[in-house]
Amino acid sequence: MPTTPQSNPEKLETSWRALQEHANQLKSQHLRDLFSADAERFQRFSLEFGEVLLDYSKNFITDETLKLLRDLAQQADLKGWIERMFSGDRINNTENRAVLHTALRNRSNTPVMVDGENVMPGINRVLAQMDDFCGRVRRGEWKGYTGKTITDIVNIGIGGSDLGPHMVATALRPYWKDGLTAHFVSNVDGTDINETLAKVSPETTLFVIASKTFTTRETMTNAHSARQWFLDNSDGDPLKIRHHFVAVSTNSSAVQAFGIDSHNMFEFWDWVGGRYSLWSAIGLPVALVVGMENFKQLLAGAHEMDRHFAEADFSENMPVILGLLGIWYRNFFNAGNHAILPYDHSLRLLPAYLQQADMESNGKRVTRDGVPVDYDTGPVIWGQPGTNGQHAFFQLIHQGTELVPADFILPIRTHHPISEHHEILSANCIAQTEALMRGKTEDEVRKELLDAGMDEDQITMLAPHKVFPGNKPSNTLMMRQLTPYNLGTLIALYEHKIFVESIIWNINAFDQWGVELGKQLAGVIEKELDSAKPCTSHDSSTNGLVNYLKK
Ligand code: F6P
Repeated sequence: MPTTPQSNPEKLETSWRALQEHANQLKSQHLRDLFSADAERFQRFSLEFGEVLLDYSKNFITDETLKLLRDLAQQADLKGWIERMFSGDRINNTENRAVLHTALRNRSNTPVMVDGENVMPGINRVLAQMDDFCGRVRRGEWKGYTGKTITDIVNIGIGGSDLGPHMVATALRPYWKDGLTAHFVSNVDGTDINETLAKVSPETTLFVIASKTFTTRETMTNAHSARQWFLDNSDGDPLKIRHHFVAVSTNSSAVQAFGIDSHNMFEFWDWVGGRYSLWSAIGLPVALVVGMENFKQLLAGAHEMDRHFAEADFSENMPVILGLLGIWYRNFFNAGNHAILPYDHSLRLLPAYLQQADMESNGKRVTRDGVPVDYDTGPVIWGQPGTNGQHAFFQLIHQGTELVPADFILPIRTHHPISEHHEILSANCIAQTEALMRGKTEDEVRKELLDAGMDEDQITMLAPHKVFPGNKPSNTLMMRQLTPYNLGTLIALYEHKIFVESIIWNINAFDQWGVELGKQLAGVIEKELDSAKPCTSHDSSTNGLVNYLKK
């Protein structure tokens, strides 16, 4: 049972116990029965915000569940933590940093103070710099070294410096300017950069080197390879690099050392976490292809969600509801994973994006104060776009032994209205949530098989395989259309959901120490791979693998 510095441990424990007892009672009921007993269930457990609808009625919940979950949030001082985040407190305690991705999209421009300084003028300055730069590239005024206009943007980054802009640029493909294409290189595997460079010309390509630290091994390796490729395939003049390379970073000295003109560096700040950075200049490749007006719409959609999160009562607060449902399944139903199922091909990178957002944030084993937790924290996040997933892993969700709470996401209008495609897609999305919820009973199966003309032996043999237990929870998020604004709203919704969970679990959602050890050891092994001597410094497996590779 988690306790936080601000919480009242006794009351929190009471809330936790009450939820435990309530979960035990609810486990004997089937979702199908909850629906039969209440014709108004959809109306009561759905919520509209802007152009987004959240239907959370297909969850193991009653009014009592939500009341108990809200009690828990109150005992954990969720309201206080939301205020602390928005007002620039250093809630990332292990890095002693504020957490202010919300300031990046603060379209109301009200002052946000960090250490007595308003951060908004700095944010507005970088937005203006992006606006100016994107305008020049998009109007063809920014020329390559031979005087040609830019046709290709290659973003080089990894983790938050890749997943966010890559996902958003892919989602907003219908808004791209004709003649301008975005590419994303992240993997240090040379295949990634090689395959991308094969598609572009040095005369018309602009590289965006995106790295908060400008030290990340993968990004710097790819950036140096791109730089070398440019020199090898142009007239070789290093002074021309400034026409083709810009940087997004917090580390201006490293950017200059790389050879990028300081005028072509877009700054951001240590209070922007990598996985929360797409709203900063890390969104530059998105702004380049969709234009600054659309990028600002993305920010505006997120800002509306921020206000909703900060102001709405918990009973009608979308991120709070989703976060509390996350707690409900993780801690009271032992669900170790959560599926993200966008029924929109343009959102195909959303599961990978949310994997980092959620798992790097909430994959923690100690509390904010460093005490090991004795309850489960962040689940495994995974998913694929529908309907593809239906032909792959849905079997396990329907009939396997693992509980997989799932989010279905469906834009009502498509950007690609071709024949009946979108109707088929939408029908499948809604049908899956129904099938998961209601299932198919043995009686229903037997009747179906009888109607198909089977004899009793065949029916007895087949029936258990064809039964769907149902009672599988899901949320459905529908939006009018996948616009920049609605996408901003959707992403901010998930960011805040993750934050809500972290507060209940009393963990720091904004550090990521778990990525360090592998990086350190890779540095050691890289040197050993280079050395002529056999490797003997590790355990026998690691030595064996290094030596096998060297051979
Ligand atoms: O994987 C660790 C991490 O620090 C992420 O949090 C971050 O998004 C990514 O690496 C990239 O870091 P940077 O932007 O500094 O290159």
